[in-house]
Amino acid sequence: MKIFKTISSIRSYLQELRNGKSIGFVPTMGALHQGHISLVHRANLENDIVVCSIFVNPIQFNKKEDLAKYPRTIEKDIIKLDEIECDVLFAPDVDEMYPEPVFDKYDFGHLEKVMEGQHRPGHFNGVAVVVKKLFDVIEPHKAYFGLKDYQQLKIIEKMVSSLSLDMQIVSCPTLREKDGLAMSSRNVRLSKYERSIAPAIFRVLNSLKEKINQITPAEAENWAIKQLNKFVEMKVEYFSIVGADDLLSVKSWDDRPHIVACTAINLGKVRLIDNIILF
Ligand code: PAJ
Repeated sequence: MKIFKTISSIRSYLQELRNGKSIGFVPTMGALHQGHISLVHRANLENDIVVCSIFVNPIQFNKKEDLAKYPRTIEKDIIKLDEIECDVLFAPDVDEMYPEPVFDKYDFGHLEKVMEGQHRPGHFNGVAVVVKKLFDVIEPHKAYFGLKDYQQLKIIEKMVSSLSLDMQIVSCPTLREKDGLAMSSRNVRLSKYERSIAPAIFRVLNSLKEKINQITPAEAENWAIKQLNKFVEMKVEYFSIVGADDLLSVKSWDDRPHIVACTAINLGKVRLIDNIILF
């Protein structure tokens, strides 16, 4: 695997390599787990060249503490990427990505005002800025994103369609531990006890399927919050049942053709997000 730290060096390398070949791109912030690896694997199946990026993007963190504590395991990440035959890794420093202050402002309307957007001001603008910059550098044909970060996926899809970018966004299923906990770089920060109760998040999300058409979506939200609040260590930041495309809350189950339930939970000092597409 070739590793680049500067924009100019990866640009000129890809320019020569490209030559009619398809490029699949997987942006990450590192601390790679099987969830990330599944994206690289999918990119490998569908493209001639696979590029992965590792960049802990400071402008998408709204809490300094979260940025400082974000796990960084670059050496291990390189070994993992090598093993699954990733062709190119782009791992720039902050100064390389942001030599100047960032002024770009995106407006994603309602999509950025709810759930993660409401609780993490500026987060999605930071994500959009870095992803657009990475797209400009790599110029991929396809880019791979996990359904684990459902709202992020919708924001990126919106950015690509509104800027008419000539590329395809591929959404990939959430990989989970055997007990249902969604894989996340943050899971390593859970204490043994917190880790033991964390699977309740997916259990509750999954149980919502039985509530469809039995109680209203609002009642289902309240039911889910009540289940999770039984654990004193869990603080539910939001639990929202929304239209899968517009992320608007729904009054009844037939309001939208597809409905998703999304949640963010503070478990001890760790913030976990998860979701389920109900139908
Ligand atoms: P990061 O959290 O490292 O995630 C990188 C990609 O892996 C995202 O598309 C995310 O949805 C996906 N992913 C994470 N956990 C997953 C799981 N359990 N199963 C499947 N896919 C999973 O998301 C980011 O980084 C950043 O916001 C980024 C897009 C790189 C911009 O900085």
